[in-house]
Amino acid sequence: MKALVYGGPGEKSWSEIPDPTIVDPRDAIIRVDAVTICGTDLHILGGDVPEVQPGRVLGHEAVGTVVAVGDGVASLKVGDRVLASCISACGVCRYCREGAYGQCLGGGGWILGHTVDGVQAEYARIPFADLSTYRLPEQVPDEAAVLLADILPTSYEVGVLNGRVRPGDTVVVVGAGPIGLAAIQTARLYSPAHIVAVDKAQSRLDAAKRFGADLTVLADDDPLEVVRSVTDGLGADVAVEAVGVPATFELCTTLVRPGGRVANIGVHGKPATLHLERLWIRDITITTGLVDTRTTPTLLNMLVAGQLDTAHMVTHRYRLDEIVEAYDVFARPAETGALKVVLTRR
Ligand SMILES: NC(=O)c1ccc[n+]([C@@H]2O[C@H](COP(=O)([O-])OP(=O)(O)OC[C@H]3O[C@@H](n4cnc5c(N)ncnc54)[C@H](O)[C@@H]3O)[C@@H](O)[C@H]2O)c1
Ligand SMILES: [Zn+2]
Ligand SMILES: [Zn+2]
Repeated sequence: MKALVYGGPGEKSWSEIPDPTIVDPRDAIIRVDAVTICGTDLHILGGDVPEVQPGRVLGHEAVGTVVAVGDGVASLKVGDRVLASCISACGVCRYCREGAYGQCLGGGGWILGHTVDGVQAEYARIPFADLSTYRLPEQVPDEAAVLLADILPTSYEVGVLNGRVRPGDTVVVVGAGPIGLAAIQTARLYSPAHIVAVDKAQSRLDAAKRFGADLTVLADDDPLEVVRSVTDGLGADVAVEAVGVPATFELCTTLVRPGGRVANIGVHGKPATLHLERLWIRDITITTGLVDTRTTPTLLNMLVAGQLDTAHMVTHRYRLDEIVEAYDVFARPAETGALKVVLTRR
């Protein structure tokens, strides 16, 4: 089969490699029907995630059809259409039993396209298939479902739920890429008074308006002034970091009001300065997190009920074998306007 193989920082290729096989009874093999590229894949290619070894197949967000199951798989059969989640779960370790699948101690967690081969491929092995996949209702199209593999649960759990967004809040979202935009739309579900989006790119701020931000501001203008203007000078109740660089984390800690919450979503490759000398006296709560995907069943219900806008999230469509071009378009969003790019077998 063909797969997108990581070759070390800056290097990738669509290469012929052996088909995946069942190596553990709990595995399933899927034929990949739809797959997407994540900002995290760009972090890997940028060298920010050094545990990813050259030779690794990238990708952790897919919809596929089950073509083989191991003897230990109870809930899936050949032919089932499933969401392959970015987080795998052994189901029996202490963290899995608490629903904290991202921290799985039994060999799960974020492994696809990280420590085992991922799903940007014609076929993929899905470990712990019973707990790491979700059978898809017929009415949910592949293209919408694939957004539930990572961006929607990540934004909802690590941004909105960790940040404890409440009705009437002012929420500032720094970074309006797919993750920030999904945070804006899932924050909306809680009827905040204001959602302020901050980004470097005007095209992303325009997208933020479509997803429900009522105020937008370029990062180089004055985000603090805009946030203060709608909060009696106090600052935001919740600041969501959705970029992954020190400057935006530090910005979030300045935008939040005393008693407020900073919810960091971004994947960081460098240390950020924590200004504890200013923060300690202001009762600031800071959360970090890897997504657990424990909200995937809820998000699927919302998708079926029409509560999530997935239509505006997919801007570019390709065939699987055009993935190198798709990466190029996804990596230059300011010029291409790309949000999510979806690749399908055709
Ligand atoms: N915690 C998790 O479990 C998890 C899961 C998935 C993705 N992520 C991370 O979330 C982050 C966002 O993902 P994405 O796919 O939306 O990425 P992205 O690169 O598409 O979007 C980032 C956005 O930030 C903007 N930006 C860059 N520098 C900025 C600055 N200084 N100020 C304001 N805006 C700036 C960019 O213009 C872009 O619109 C990434 O770090 C990604 O790795 C985390
Ligand atoms: Zn991802
Ligand atoms: Zn586990």
